[in-house]
Amino acid sequence: MRIVILTGAGISAESGLGTFRGPDGTWSRYNIDDLATPQGFARNPVLVHRFYNARRAQVLAAAPNPAHVALARLEAEHAGSVLIVTQNIDDLHERAGSRNVIHMHGELLRALCAECGHRWDAPPEMAPDDACPTCGAPATRPDVVWFGEIPYHMDAIADHLQDCALFAAIGTSGQVYPAAGFVVEAAMAGAQTVEVHLTATDISGAFDTHHVGPATQDVPAWVDGLLAQR
Ligand code: APR
Repeated sequence: MRIVILTGAGISAESGLGTFRGPDGTWSRYNIDDLATPQGFARNPVLVHRFYNARRAQVLAAAPNPAHVALARLEAEHAGSVLIVTQNIDDLHERAGSRNVIHMHGELLRALCAECGHRWDAPPEMAPDDACPTCGAPATRPDVVWFGEIPYHMDAIADHLQDCALFAAIGTSGQVYPAAGFVVEAAMAGAQTVEVHLTATDISGAFDTHHVGPATQDVPAWVDGLLAQR
């Protein structure tokens, strides 16, 4: 059985990384237009780099939690394929041991040259006039997808959604497209769908089954159940 798992900020919340929406969410405290759009970066690159430098420091100080670990165990022990499509720009899935991971919104620990498209490992602190190691242009940016930009690997993700028997969404509010539409794509292709989330979401009605609770409890329990079905 092929399994595709979409993850969002909620899976990393219990590792101490904040979510985006809700009363304490990042976007209730910071301005999306200033910090997460190409226009905001063009206006004030120093501010945007400062924001992502701080988030990079938080990620480097965080550790994977039992939900990340359970998904890595699922990939290792499940007889079929397991793909994680994450909206998260942290590396906690990889540090937990997951190998088959698509970062549709990019990676905080990678840098991108806006001039030539070269990518490389980001240093802990980035600044706008850092030179690209390939072309030398002072046009470095975090390799993250901002609002108004097209998420990465969409063709490959669409193929995997067409081809999976089980689709799970974990810790994502279902408010940001295209990811919020994946459940419908997978269901139309015949997949069973499951949502694992702290509360009901705006798109809960699109899922066949639900596990309502914190990811560190519900994800390991869900994985145990799946592996026991063999
Ligand atoms: N377990 C499960 N779910 C949780 C937990 C937890 N411990 N803690 C919080 N949540 C839920 C929240 O209730 C919230 O609905 O996780 C959800 C996270 O939703 P968002 O903050 O909207 O994050 P996400 O869905 O990943 O956002 C999508 O929006 O700003 C952009 O690019 C950013 O990738 C991000 C995208």
